[in-house]
Amino acid sequence: MSAAVIDGRAAAAEVRAKVATAAAAFQTKTGRQPGLATVLVGEDPASAVYVRSKGKATGEAGMASFSHTLPASTAEGELLDLVAALNPDDAVDGILVQLPLPPQIDAARVIAAIDPAKDVDGFHALNAGRLATGLDALVPCTPLGCLHLLKAQLGDLAGLEAVVVGRSNIVGKPMALLLIGASATVTIAHSRTRDLPEVVRRADIVVAAVGRAEMIKGDWIKPGATVIDVGINRVPGDGGKGRLVGDVEFASVSEVAGAITPVPGGVGPMTIAMLLRNTIVAAHRRAGLTDPEGL
Ligand code: GUN
Repeated sequence: MSAAVIDGRAAAAEVRAKVATAAAAFQTKTGRQPGLATVLVGEDPASAVYVRSKGKATGEAGMASFSHTLPASTAEGELLDLVAALNPDDAVDGILVQLPLPPQIDAARVIAAIDPAKDVDGFHALNAGRLATGLDALVPCTPLGCLHLLKAQLGDLAGLEAVVVGRSNIVGKPMALLLIGASATVTIAHSRTRDLPEVVRRADIVVAAVGRAEMIKGDWIKPGATVIDVGINRVPGDGGKGRLVGDVEFASVSEVAGAITPVPGGVGPMTIAMLLRNTIVAAHRRAGLTDPEGL
C-alpha cells in the first residue's frame, strides 16, 4: 500500500465545527436558529438511517431539525402539500426530501416544487442551471464534499486531468461542473464509455460514482493519481451482515494511487457535512446576510 488514505471523517468534523460557529453567530444576529426540514416517505431502512443521521447532525451543529415521516402509501398530492407548507415557513431554511420516493410519486415533480432558495440538495433545475452557468447556486452535497477533499489534498486543481466515472444528476454531472469551475480538464465517462480503463488511466483525479462494487481496478490508475470513491455497495461477507465497499477496488488501487478515500469513512461523512453547510448558507442568503466565512 503506497497511497495516503484521505480521512473524510476528520475533514467532515472540521466543516461541521465551522457550521456550528456560523449557526451560533446567525442566531445572535437574527434571533432564531437556522432550520432544516427532512421528509422521509416510506420505510426503506437505508433511507431511514440516512435521514436520522442528517437530523442528528443538524442538532449537533446548533440548528433546528424538523423531521417529517410519511407512510409509503402517501399520494403525490399529499407530499406536494407538505412541500407547499414548508416553502413559506420562515423557521425552515432547507428542505430535503429523501430519495428514492415510492413509485406512485414523481420525484421530478416534487423537486420542482421545492423553493430553490431552500433546495439544500441542489437538485432543483434552477440550482443545476445556476451551477452550469457559473452563478451562485446551492450545489449537490456529495460532489461538493468531493471537491472539498480534492482541494484539501491537492491544493490548486488547475490544469489537472480529471475523469468522472458516472453521469448522474446527483453526482457525476455536478462533479464535472465543479471540476471545470476549478479549471481542471474534465472527462465524464460512464458504463457505455469505450475502453474505460484506458480513459481512467490518463486521470490525475478519478471520481468514481457508477454504483458498481469494486469496478475500478489498480491497473486502471495512473501512478500517484488521487482517487475519490463515491460508491457505497453492500456485498456478501462479514457473517450475514454484508460488507460495504466502494466503486473502487481498494486493495489494488491503493497500491498505485497517490491518495484514496476509503469506504466507509471517505466521501460519506462529507455529504452530511455539506448538507449542513448548504443549510447555513441558505439561511444566510434568505436573511440577506453575506455567506458565512470559510464555508
Ligand atoms: N438519497 C441518496 N442520496 C441522497 C441525497 O443526497 N439527497 C436526497 N434527498 N436523497 C438521497
